[in-house]
Amino acid sequence: MSQPLCIAIAGLGTVGAGTLRVLQQHGDLLAARAGRPLAVTAVSAKSRTKDRGVSIDDVAWFDDPVAMAREAEADVVIELIGGEDGPAKATCEAALAAGRHVVTANKALLAVNGAGLADAAAQAGKALNFEAAVAGGIPIVKALREGLAGNNITRVYGILNGTCNYILTEMREQRRSFEDVLDEAQRLGYAEAEPSMDVDGIDAGQKLALLSSLAFGSRINFDGVYIEGIRHISLLDIDYAEELGYRIKLLGSAQRTERGLEQRVYPRMVDQRQPIAHVEGAENAVVAIGDFVGNTMFQGAGAGAGPTASAVVADIVDIARDHRTPTLGISAGELESLPEAPIGSHRGPYYVRLMVSDRPGVIADVTAVFRDEAVSIESMIQRARSETEAVPVVLNMHECEEAAMQRALSRIATLDSVVEAPTMIRIESLA
Ligand code: HSE
Repeated sequence: MSQPLCIAIAGLGTVGAGTLRVLQQHGDLLAARAGRPLAVTAVSAKSRTKDRGVSIDDVAWFDDPVAMAREAEADVVIELIGGEDGPAKATCEAALAAGRHVVTANKALLAVNGAGLADAAAQAGKALNFEAAVAGGIPIVKALREGLAGNNITRVYGILNGTCNYILTEMREQRRSFEDVLDEAQRLGYAEAEPSMDVDGIDAGQKLALLSSLAFGSRINFDGVYIEGIRHISLLDIDYAEELGYRIKLLGSAQRTERGLEQRVYPRMVDQRQPIAHVEGAENAVVAIGDFVGNTMFQGAGAGAGPTASAVVADIVDIARDHRTPTLGISAGELESLPEAPIGSHRGPYYVRLMVSDRPGVIADVTAVFRDEAVSIESMIQRARSETEAVPVVLNMHECEEAAMQRALSRIATLDSVVEAPTMIRIESLA
């Protein structure tokens, strides 16, 4: 058999230890698939002695991942440190500069610094593979870069954050509030103590920026992703969604339009007849639509040691086989800088929930504002009746331009009878 592929791993947290486990457990299978053994020769992590359930006795230890990337006996450096710059970025840069391939699971790093790293990889003639950075174990990077290469991708969208999908599922199935589900997820260690990367949509936005670059041949533009999270979604909205035939999902979506590249992450009302409406719990799913292939949907675990390590190891096997593709599907110099479509130009139907004082004239005031902005109401629900407490009024709005909707909502928020900020959720047509 040929020479082994020598691997240095930077970062031995959940994913790093998982990667070691896959490499150790599937050594023979991977050697057969890759046509050569995969040998871990060096590791670097915060603690040398921590029990990770896998042995690192026979490999070189480095306190400093950047020194390891420069000096270790390695063909490929696996960056599993995390963070958008700092040691993660320095490790990848040092590895490429030293003529080594890089595999990373780090979406934050790539969303912010991916363009420069892809350039550096192209100049070094080395691979920069990142399957694990988007939707964990789902092989969507490979699908877009290779399996769907014959298509113009018209749209890509998906459930890109398992924590948010878990929270929304628990809220609906167990009839619990956002805060309650998040508290419990934090106590059980499913959600981070600082949850904003997940619940404010940033993690999904980073993954979307990578997906849209792969799908549309554009330079990664994370700053161009419009992002809203799920903190404002209440049980009331979830119940109304069900009644109206929708399910609320935090989706990321990207498409090229004549207004520019739309890259958007926000909660949406999704028709319950759509398959993605039924992807529940911590699962991820990505739909890529190609002009020749039509709709393709990929579903699976978006996080966790096993699924993420599965993606890391697939990238390593590609390198061992000498199977190379440009980082983002086309060569770094040919990636286009596409203008971003402003959210104000979005068009679609909307769900609006107002909490109002239940007194004569309230609906007239609200509808007058919508009339002034030429925004048309399709249907309205007001069931509760209370002389003392605010009651919900739910409006299903016909398709209109977002800028007009936002102007109307700003004015409605100032009406005396409207007692809290309006909730607006975009209704998504996934046809
Ligand atoms: N925190 C992410 C999620 C996984 O909940 O899906 C890593 O990106």
